[in-house]
Amino acid sequence: WQNDVIKYMSFFSNKWYTMIDYIWKEGTHLKIAISSDHGGNNLRKEIMALLDELAISYEDFGPQNDDSVDYPDYARPVAERVAAGEFDRGILICGTGIGISIAANKFKGIRCALVHDVFSAKATRCHNDSNILAMGERVIGPGLAREIVTTWLNTEFEGGRHVRRVEKISELEA
Ligand code: RB5
Repeated sequence: WQNDVIKYMSFFSNKWYTMIDYIWKEGTHLKIAISSDHGGNNLRKEIMALLDELAISYEDFGPQNDDSVDYPDYARPVAERVAAGEFDRGILICGTGIGISIAANKFKGIRCALVHDVFSAKATRCHNDSNILAMGERVIGPGLAREIVTTWLNTEFEGGRHVRRVEKISELEA
């Protein structure tokens, strides 16, 4: 019976974790940091318009013109601030989403998911507690990108067995 008690206690503590996480991090409290390189400028503007429509607060880390830039320089401000807890989540966009996601994942505490479908947007929040979403402007259209962002913002981390796995990702950083 001891095992059953432990199982029930862990079940309820996970529920509390999820609830507290939801209350503090989701909904009106969510603060987003966003940036792109030149290859993601148009989609970044589209996503900022979406965040305005959803009344979600965000800070734009550029770039402010269409000059050719290097994506690691634009991954850095977003990744650093999300890792520091200044923002709840980040959104990064480049041509493919690949370079900017690789760069973001170099920062301790960052779990950046490159997503081009709605299923993965949901799954990476539920299972990986991803704190940055990366997309490629040259890969998907604005309509799908909007759906991905909306799903990713509205999906909670499931907790439970996934906590252990996410903790093991953190251990890899040490
Ligand atoms: C820029 O031309 C392009 O290489 C960049 O946006 C991205 O796709 C890199 O992964």
